[in-house]
Amino acid sequence: MHNPALQACGIEAQYVRVQVPVGQVKQAFGLLVKQGFLGVNITIPHKFEALDAVDVVDPLARQLGAVNTLAIRDGKMFGYNTDGPGFLRSVKEAFGREVKDLRVLIIGAGGGAGRAVAVQSVLVGCKRLVLANRTESKLAPLVAELSAISSAVSFQTCTLDHTDIAQHLPEIDLIVNATSVGMKVEDTPLLATGGLQSRHLVYDMVYRASGPTDLIQQAEQAGARHADGMCLLLHQGAISFEHWFDIPAPLEAMREGLKTAVS
Ligand code: ATR
Repeated sequence: MHNPALQACGIEAQYVRVQVPVGQVKQAFGLLVKQGFLGVNITIPHKFEALDAVDVVDPLARQLGAVNTLAIRDGKMFGYNTDGPGFLRSVKEAFGREVKDLRVLIIGAGGGAGRAVAVQSVLVGCKRLVLANRTESKLAPLVAELSAISSAVSFQTCTLDHTDIAQHLPEIDLIVNATSVGMKVEDTPLLATGGLQSRHLVYDMVYRASGPTDLIQQAEQAGARHADGMCLLLHQGAISFEHWFDIPAPLEAMREGLKTAVS
């Protein structure tokens, strides 16, 4: 996605992959700065370590608790998080809606991705937030943290039990799967069959190259609009590009690049 973007903008640079052992993020960043890199994307499992390895942490990245983008300017390292803003942009593109106007259910709120979506949704003032997680003990601390960010949002928690989730769905607009459930064909579905309505917006952060996940298939059967993990990958990448080059990202070139990469 990034090499086609660089090409489309006539920027003489290359996006390469670098493998870094856990615990060596700071040293790796130091080497990349020395070698003249302009920026870095950071992925699992380094997003948390990266927070302490940069010179300046953007306030949003601090609040989201993870750095996934590094911009190097005059030898100084600036850390950003583009997952949260990428989520907002992808919801806007996929559904034509602003998260602030929506009632959101996050399944897997206890994971890194779910947490980022939860914090970002609260920061923009979504109408209601229902948090579900397999390990229920992770939810109370998260609710406490989110309540400290905004007292205007109504919070509820929920188990992963199909009946429990189904009880919340009438009061929900946007359903986000932030678990890894759906990556494998044999995974147990998150929702009971027939639980979705056509008015629901379904965002499955999982992308499965072999075909639509069970959740996306359920959305299709219900006539509900849906988006998958590819949409988030594209938009968080576009925002990274904008941090590096300070110009609008060539979204269509990036989209085509992604399509080619996964086909
Ligand atoms: P990431 O940082 O990429 O979000 P993670 O921290 O491993 O990944 O979080 C994964 C999320 O998916 C968690 O909410 C996890 O639930 P737990 O907090 O109970 O571990 C959830 N998850 C993973 N596998 C799951 C499964 N089989 N069923 C339900 N939830 C699952």
